[in-house]
Amino acid sequence: AASNSYNNLQVEVRGSVGLVAIHRPAALNALNDETTMELADALQQYDRDSTIGAIVLTGTDRAFAAGADIKEMANRSFVQTRRRNAGAFMDLFLALRSPVIAAVRGYALGGGCELAMACDIVYASEDAQFGLPEVQIGTIPGWGGTQRLLRAVGKAKAMEMILSGRRISAKEAEEWGLVSAIHANDKVVAAALETAGKIASLSQPIVQMAKAAVNAAEDMSLRNGILYERSLFQATFATQDQKEGMTAFVDKRDPKWTNA
Ligand code: HXC
Repeated sequence: AASNSYNNLQVEVRGSVGLVAIHRPAALNALNDETTMELADALQQYDRDSTIGAIVLTGTDRAFAAGADIKEMANRSFVQTRRRNAGAFMDLFLALRSPVIAAVRGYALGGGCELAMACDIVYASEDAQFGLPEVQIGTIPGWGGTQRLLRAVGKAKAMEMILSGRRISAKEAEEWGLVSAIHANDKVVAAALETAGKIASLSQPIVQMAKAAVNAAEDMSLRNGILYERSLFQATFATQDQKEGMTAFVDKRDPKWTNA
């Protein structure tokens, strides 16, 4: 399991779920370089841990994250920004096999909104606010926001949010399909942990193949996506868990998954 020696994160294993909480409340969880490095470390450690079947990513009460750290970025030159290439941090999400559920309370702005959108499922608290306000500080989204928001809500709404910087409420985010459910502020992490626990109680390789198939839709033509899904579907028959799952159904008993 990930160690608890992070400066800006609180991490904890709950059964077979890894809980990662961004904890830099004095800056509304602004994602400075140290925090993104710690996040990468924690997420990758949980993803590699075979006893962990799902990850919950959350923030603190007032903010999931209010974006990349503006104070840290403000005076960087183009060349420094290019050399640091901080956006590449987000590429790790493309490689995570475990499902990641975001539990968003309060602000998810800029990089914080982009981080939530990189997760597989997003739960929001009633007081959550989502936005890509980068234009208001003289830049544009740099952690995938222009691409993922468009895919999540379509061009018209994505353009409105990205060009104006307008924040949307949890309710709008749910209506638009950016979040899958809204929970009370003090219940949203528990709800995410519960869903994560259910996912983690299933066969890990099967869940991971399902996630890979859905993610393919963001990247592939329909034809190639369907062929990829079909290959993965057929590949599930190479697992013992497929045999177990279907035999258990026929025998009218609960399956016992072995992740094999
Ligand atoms: C650094 C931040 C911060 C940020 C808040 N803080 N957001 N510090 N970077 N992104 C700090 C404030 O400076 C302040 O600390 C403390 O957190 C509390 O914030 P306040 O502004 O006093 O709180 P409030 O008035 O309640 O307003 C909340 C807020 C506002 C609406 C969320 O803080 C805000 O607009 N933040 C910036 C949002 C934003 O523009 N995010 C996009 C960043 S660009 P001090 O010590 O000063 O009082 C981005 C690019 C991603 O994310 C791509 C990168 C590759």
